[in-house]
Formats: sequence, structure tokens, C-alpha cells
Amino acid sequence: MDQNALKEQTGKESVKYIKSGMIVGLGTGSTVKYMVDELGKQVQEGKIKDIIGVTTSNRTAKQARDLGITIKDIDDVDHIDLTIDGADEISDDFQGIKGGGGALLWEKIVANVSNKVMWIVDESKLVHKLGAFPLPVEVIPFGSQHVFDRLEKKGYKPTWRMDGDEKFRTDENNYIIDLHLGEIDDPKALADELIHMVGIVETGLFLNRVNDVIVGTPEGPKVLHAR
Ligand code: A5P
Repeated sequence: MDQNALKEQTGKESVKYIKSGMIVGLGTGSTVKYMVDELGKQVQEGKIKDIIGVTTSNRTAKQARDLGITIKDIDDVDHIDLTIDGADEISDDFQGIKGGGGALLWEKIVANVSNKVMWIVDESKLVHKLGAFPLPVEVIPFGSQHVFDRLEKKGYKPTWRMDGDEKFRTDENNYIIDLHLGEIDDPKALADELIHMVGIVETGLFLNRVNDVIVGTPEGPKVLHAR
């Protein structure tokens, strides 16, 4: 099975966890796209009723609205029952790297107010240690070259996320710098160091954030319980 088929499998499977009446956090990315398509289908068929979606990107908001899913602003709900999102890497101890699609800041804010967080991934995303996937860091544009230079001096091998010839802009109009670290020995220490650098808004290290993971495999979806 190719990677897209596994993404579709886990995306569809995750919709089984969405019950009528829930407030659901809708993540971002190609795996989540399959989940939102299936959710939209079930809403249209009346199988899932009265759900409210809170989205982690403008992209997902548009897709969900087009499918007839009711979307509310995060500040217009007092909690989120369950957020379903993708991930770029998940380590043995269920720490994650996210932000390959550039939505890490809203994704972390939505995860933070969610009672439960579920990540949906194909099996290639499971790793022993984090870091082979470049770690995204969201920076405000003002003074961002200085942040980039500091990251370079620290040996973190930064590159600008590009969108054609222009620097990629997030939904908050910020830039993303990807750090090519290879292996991250101490994700918590790194997250603490980065978040304290002026100009960095958020990092793609999602530590102790996930409850359950659904993994797409050729043998079918597998559920892993993190905590
Ligand atoms: C979006 O910013 C990301 O955090 C995605 O959730 C992550 O990159 C996984 O994306 P795919 O499902 O497209 O692999």
C-alpha cells in the first residue's frame, strides 16, 4: 500500500471517534484532509449530528465549511472534546514533531484547549528518536534574519521555508525556519531553549500533547495509547 492509501485509512478510521454533539478540533495536512472529507460525508448523511469544528488553519476551515461542517472560532467555544491532527514524526515515547504543513502555532493552541488529542499517521511517521524530519520554528518577520543567524551559530542548520520565490507565510503572517538537526537528544531542553529566543513564536515540538495515535498499516489501522 502506498503512503496516501495509509493516510486515507487512518483518516477515515479516526472519524469513528467523533460522536454527535462534540466540539471537534480539526487539524491540518494531507492525512487530516481525508478525515475531514469523511466527517463531511457523515454529517451530510446525518450519521453525525450537531458537531462544531474548530480548525487549525484557514485551509481546513475552507474544506470543512465547503462540506457543510459548522465551524466556530476557537474563542467562541469553552472547550474542545477531541482534536484529530496529523504529525510529521512520533517517537517511541509519543513525543512529536508537527508543522510540516506550516500550521504548528494554531495546532498547538487548539491542542492546548482540547480534552483529548488524537494523531493520525501512516506508519512511516513512527521513529525511535525525533529529528530526522526538519523541526519547524515559527518566527515573526521583524528581525527574523537575526534569529536565523543565531540558530545557524548554534549549529542548528536552519533553512527558510519557501513558497516559490517568496518566504512561506503562516496563517498569522509569520515565517517558518526549519532546523535540520538529524537527531534530537533532549527534546524538552531544545523546546525550552528555542521558545525563550526572542522572535520565536512557537516550535514544532509537541511534547506530552497526545493521548492516542491511529497508525495506518498494510494490516489495517492500529491504535496506540500514549497516556
Ligand atoms: C501541519 O502543519 C502539520 O503539523 C501536519 O499535521 C503534519 O505535517 C502532517 O501532515 P501530513 O498529514 O500531510 O503528512
